[in-house]
Amino acid sequence: MPRRVSRQDLIAPMFWYPASALLLAAALALGGRAVAQEVTADAVARGAYLFTAADCASCHTDTKNAGAPLGGGRALKTAFGTFFTPNISPDRQHGIGTWSDGQFIKAFRKGVSPDGRDYYPAFPYTSFTGMTDRDLLDLKAYLFSQPPVPTANKPHDLNFPYSIRWALMPWKILYFREGPFMGDPSRPMEWNRGAYLVKAIGHCGECHSPRNSLGAIEKTRRLAGVWNGPDGQSAPNITQHPDALGKWSTGDIEGLLKDGITPDGDFVGSGMADVVANTAKLDDADRHAIAVFLKALPAKDPTPKPAAAAR
Ligand code: HEC
Ligand code: HEC
Repeated sequence: MPRRVSRQDLIAPMFWYPASALLLAAALALGGRAVAQEVTADAVARGAYLFTAADCASCHTDTKNAGAPLGGGRALKTAFGTFFTPNISPDRQHGIGTWSDGQFIKAFRKGVSPDGRDYYPAFPYTSFTGMTDRDLLDLKAYLFSQPPVPTANKPHDLNFPYSIRWALMPWKILYFREGPFMGDPSRPMEWNRGAYLVKAIGHCGECHSPRNSLGAIEKTRRLAGVWNGPDGQSAPNITQHPDALGKWSTGDIEGLLKDGITPDGDFVGSGMADVVANTAKLDDADRHAIAVFLKALPAKDPTPKPAAAAR
């Protein structure tokens, strides 16, 4: 059995990674094989935690049609057409079972497939690019510990001209900034952990920000809310504006992430219900870190309702 992931393992990996790599090297030199196996089980457990925090299942499992876990095929409706998520199980033919560590890291860090295709940002690698190499490899260890699913991928059904994949190259040059996430040493550890969880792993901005006509997040309005966003959902402003989270305490935010209830007593629905199902499983310290980061955000006015959606 993998041992339970301790809080220490998860706090601000970007700070302690070099130190742990040294320790690992020393442990391997001293202890040999048994130690290496222990580390692998540990990687799977850490990967499982990251898989939950990143909400991978809600896109890569077609729950609506009773699809197998990691089998893909979930339809994702966007302004550009419908995406069908790929199979990310370790199946060697239909999934990612033949991928090397380097190919896996490249897919998330650069948004490029093993055969050199650019990914659509419907795969939130625009956020996951911030994940550390170590977290990505742990995630891979977890995926590869799961049963292979022999389901073939469905092609996306996109409107012209978005159906042309190479058009993504100029898009990436304009809008994509490669990670990994760099912490801010002048801020407390908690804030840094929260920033990493919100920006990179939890990809909160992918749903809570408006996009321009080319599908890129409007930087100045990041987290200020969106009308009719991905999957037709409207996600509210989660900056510190008084009509947004300005009046919420850190505890209110932690409560929402744990039980899905707002301070007014409403349950959050739609895509946020899936997110909460996952944030509920995080350590208290991580929910607290997310809340600390959100409470430190500057206030932004809510995104104005577009005329078409104003009916
Ligand atoms: C918002 C939905 C969404 C989320 C969340 C998401 N993905 Fe994906 N993912 C996609 C889509 C859509 C694609 C296909 C992109 C393309 O075809 O260009 C994709 C592609 C991939 C690929 C490339 C597969 C291949 O065959 O080339 C991998 C690997 C992957 N995702 C793993 C993950 C993991 C692991 C997570 C969680 C850390 C995750 N995804 C979270 C939507 C999502
Ligand atoms: C898949 C899209 C999606 C993702 C990812 C997402 N959210 Fe949400 N969020 C929503 C939607 C949609 C709502 C509105 C739900 C409703 O009104 O029932 C919402 C509501 C909320 C609310 C309640 C705000 C209010 O004023 O009632 C908070 C707080 C929140 N999200 C925080 C987060 C945080 C923090 C993350 C990242 C860990 C996150 N969300 C990730 C879609 C998302």
